[in-house]
Amino acid sequence: MPLIRIANGPQFEAQPGETVLAAALRSGVALDYSCRTGRCSTCRCTIESGESLALADESGLEPADRAAGAVLACVRTATSDLVLGEVRLSDQSLPAAQTLPCRLDSLQRVADDVLIVRLRLPPSVNFVFRPGQFIELIAPGGQRRSYSLACAYAQDLHLELHVRAVAGGTLSDYWFGRAQVNDLLRLHGPLGSFVLRPDVACKPLVFLATGTGIAPVKAMVDSLTHWPQAQRPGPVTVYWGGRTPADLYTDIAACAAVSRFVPVLSRADDSWQGARGYVQQALLDDAPDLSQLQVYACGSSAMVRSAQQRLLAAGLPAKQFHADAFVCTAAA
Ligand SMILES: Cc1cc2nc3c(=O)[nH]c(=O)nc-3n(C[C@H](O)[C@H](O)[C@H](O)COP(=O)(O)OP(=O)(O)OC[C@H]3O[C@@H](n4cnc5c(N)ncnc54)[C@H](O)[C@@H]3O)c2cc1C
Ligand code: FES
Repeated sequence: MPLIRIANGPQFEAQPGETVLAAALRSGVALDYSCRTGRCSTCRCTIESGESLALADESGLEPADRAAGAVLACVRTATSDLVLGEVRLSDQSLPAAQTLPCRLDSLQRVADDVLIVRLRLPPSVNFVFRPGQFIELIAPGGQRRSYSLACAYAQDLHLELHVRAVAGGTLSDYWFGRAQVNDLLRLHGPLGSFVLRPDVACKPLVFLATGTGIAPVKAMVDSLTHWPQAQRPGPVTVYWGGRTPADLYTDIAACAAVSRFVPVLSRADDSWQGARGYVQQALLDDAPDLSQLQVYACGSSAMVRSAQQRLLAAGLPAKQFHADAFVCTAAA
């Protein structure tokens, strides 16, 4: 079996045909990841030596990434022993994923194209997750799509999701057309490494969200009120972007941990007095000392990519930028 060694970390074995990411997670090595289909680039790494094969298109890589020798651990398999270049490793273990049945408890239309979905877990289960993680929802027809958990924990065995309609989408058609309270569904999770790190302690913390990207942000800010005082971040600012005021469908400013909320609209009419354009620009316009910020971004891949490029270029250290891009999750 190929042996994979990380330049700044441990080594682990991969089974034949297993992806580098799957082998790492199976061995308890916490590589950053999200989509697992080669689209978001969260698991980007470089190979210093050895041979590997891409099992699917690495569409999350920019031409410059490819030119620099980057690969995506979620779709790469080792065909010889490998040495990976330095990667960001999570310093905390993440809960193991499980597959569970659940019932659709309620559906609430909160915007033209957004539903708040509540799921009810069976009484016997112990579903543990970290705020910011997502689940894979398995619909009655067996299709799987990823949705972030919008709650800090499973209160009374209930979970909250924020679902945006995608035109012609398989699960969108289910949620917005056929879903009925009490439908029997399944979930697989928790998944992903988009969780608050201990280094937010006492530092200014910024969240950038677009659309339903506010879901994991809500889970994270709600959880902060339960953190020990000494570990809590400094001021917490949330920038949330949409097209019009109706897109900002939940009162994120009501979360006790939020010090400042900045709504940012890209298609507001003349009556809008607030920030216009895009969340990453609104943050830059506020001209903070980026070297001190911890930034967590979630939502469209266009926002996440642009925020990462522009903030790093303006002085944000790469290790202080974390993101979850809501890329398409249909099987690649
Ligand atoms: C880690 C992660 C977390 C996510 N969390 C959420 C969440 O909390 N809330 C939420 O609403 N969505 C979330 N998504 C996106 C979600 O998983 C689905 O992709 C989305 O709901 C569309 O599913 P569908 O079955 O309706 O459309 P599909 O049948 O999968 O696709 C229909 C068409 O739309 C395109 N498409 C699908 N998804 C997207 C997308 N996200 N952006 C642009 N084009 C797309 C497809 O390429 C296809 O052409 C998340 C994605 C990831 C990777
Ligand atoms: S590209 Fe690998 S986790 Fe998204």
